[in-house]
Amino acid sequence: MISDAMNALLNEQVTHEFGASQAYLAMACKFDQMALKNLASYFRKQTEEERGHALKLLDYVLEVGGRVTLKAIPAPQHEFPTVKAAIEAALAHENRVTQQIHELVVLAEKEKDFATRSFLQWFVDEQVEEVSSMSHLVQLAELAGPNLLQLEAVVVRATEND
Ligand code: FEO
Repeated sequence: MISDAMNALLNEQVTHEFGASQAYLAMACKFDQMALKNLASYFRKQTEEERGHALKLLDYVLEVGGRVTLKAIPAPQHEFPTVKAAIEAALAHENRVTQQIHELVVLAEKEKDFATRSFLQWFVDEQVEEVSSMSHLVQLAELAGPNLLQLEAVVVRATEND
């Protein structure tokens, strides 16, 4: 039901989502080691969400009779000069994923693959939410400046409202 090109691009996206999951897990560990438990908890939750995205894509490939080919996941970055730099890296990651999802949409439309186009809409909407949440977190990190305890204090409330 899907073309080889679409199958390959969906498989690539599975790897990207697992890559995001690993990247956020590394950040969660870093924050935990810095005693920033709320930020660690936020990124640990993101880790699970990204894994969920990967599995959702993988299940779709299986459902439409495609072939799942898992690839190596790049090693995540563990060190960042500042907490804000780590959160900015997460935002850059989300922007990249948005671009990748849009490339899948472009291919689905070009191939008139309406089933995959419909399936991808969930990811398009999810990315709007994820970029918005991460942008908000970058803003909070900017406002807190060097006061990481203040960032810790607001991160739970802020992310609950996102
Ligand atoms: Fe699955 Fe946050 O992109």
